[in-house]
Amino acid sequence: MKAAPITTIKTIVEKIDDGGPDVKVFSLVDPDRWELPPFRPGAHIDLHLPGKVVRTYSLCNDPAENSRYVVAVKREPSGRGGSIRLHDDVRQGDTIGVSLPRGGLQLDNKVSRFTFVAGGIGVTPFLSAAAYLMRTGGADFRLHLMVRGEPPVAGLLAPLLQKGHVVIHNTVTAARPEVASLIGRTPSDEMVGCCGPQGMIEDFEQATRGWPDELVHIERFVPLARPLDPNEKPYTLVLSRSRLEVAVTAGQTMLAALIDAGIDIPASCCGGICGSCKVDWLQGEPVHRDRVLSPAERGKSLMVCVAGSATDRLILDL
Ligand code: FES
Repeated sequence: MKAAPITTIKTIVEKIDDGGPDVKVFSLVDPDRWELPPFRPGAHIDLHLPGKVVRTYSLCNDPAENSRYVVAVKREPSGRGGSIRLHDDVRQGDTIGVSLPRGGLQLDNKVSRFTFVAGGIGVTPFLSAAAYLMRTGGADFRLHLMVRGEPPVAGLLAPLLQKGHVVIHNTVTAARPEVASLIGRTPSDEMVGCCGPQGMIEDFEQATRGWPDELVHIERFVPLARPLDPNEKPYTLVLSRSRLEVAVTAGQTMLAALIDAGIDIPASCCGGICGSCKVDWLQGEPVHRDRVLSPAERGKSLMVCVAGSATDRLILDL
C-alpha cells in the first residue's frame, strides 16, 4: 500500500493587515520560519479552519517570496461562514493548517502580453502573477480592476500602480467599460484572465468565445449548480489502497458517499471550482463536471464533489 502523501502543513499567522473595506490580508509563515512549499503564480491554498471548515484562497504574493503565504479575505456576511471566522476569530500568532499550494497560471514564453480583468476582491487571483511578471519583466501585462469606490488591497496594488500596470475603473464615477474593449479582438499571443461577479464572467466568456483554451483563464467564486441528470444510476467506488467498497446512490455526490463511509476528504467549494477535493482514479469511466481540471488532468484525476461515474464500478487511488 502506498504511503498517504502529506496534504497539509502547519502555519502561524504572522500578521494581519487592513486590506480596505471589509478586507483583511493574512500573512502565514512556518512556525520555525522554514521555507514553505513553492507555488506557481496564481496558485491557491486551502485554509483548514476550526470545525473542519476548509476554504480556498488565492495566494497574493510573489512566488519568489518563499517564506510566507499571503491571502486577502473579504468578509462576506451572506457567505458560508469561512470569511467571518477568519475576520472575527483568527488573531496574530494563531495556528492554521494549510494545504500544499496547487494550480496556477502557465506564464510561459510563448505569450508576450497578459490582460487580467477583475471585479473588486476578484483581483486576488492575479496578484501573484502580476508580481511575478513585474519582477521577471518577460512579458507586458495590464490589470483592469473594476470597483465601486475604494479599491481593495491597496497595499498590494501600490507597486503595480506605480509602474502603470493597473487601470482602476471606478464604476461610481464612470460607466463600467465593456469587457470586450479591454482585451484583444482575436487570439494572438495574448493571454487573458477574468475573476469577478457572474455578469462580468459571462461578458468575458462571450468576448473570448473561440479563443484557444490555453489563452483564457477564468476564476470563479460561486460554484455552478450541479446539473440534475434524471438518468443517473447508482455505482460503486472501489478504494484501491484500503480495498473498501463504497456505494453511491443515484443523485448522491461521490464526496457525500465517501464522507458517509468515514473517508476524510478535504473539500471547500463543493461545486467543482476550487480544486481541493481532487482524487486520482485508476479504472472505470468518470463523468467530469468540474471547472478546474484540464482535459489532460481528467485522464488521471477527478473532483469528487461533482464527478459521477459512467461505469458500475470506479476505482479510486484512495
Ligand atoms: S470541493 Fe472544490 S472542487 Fe471539489
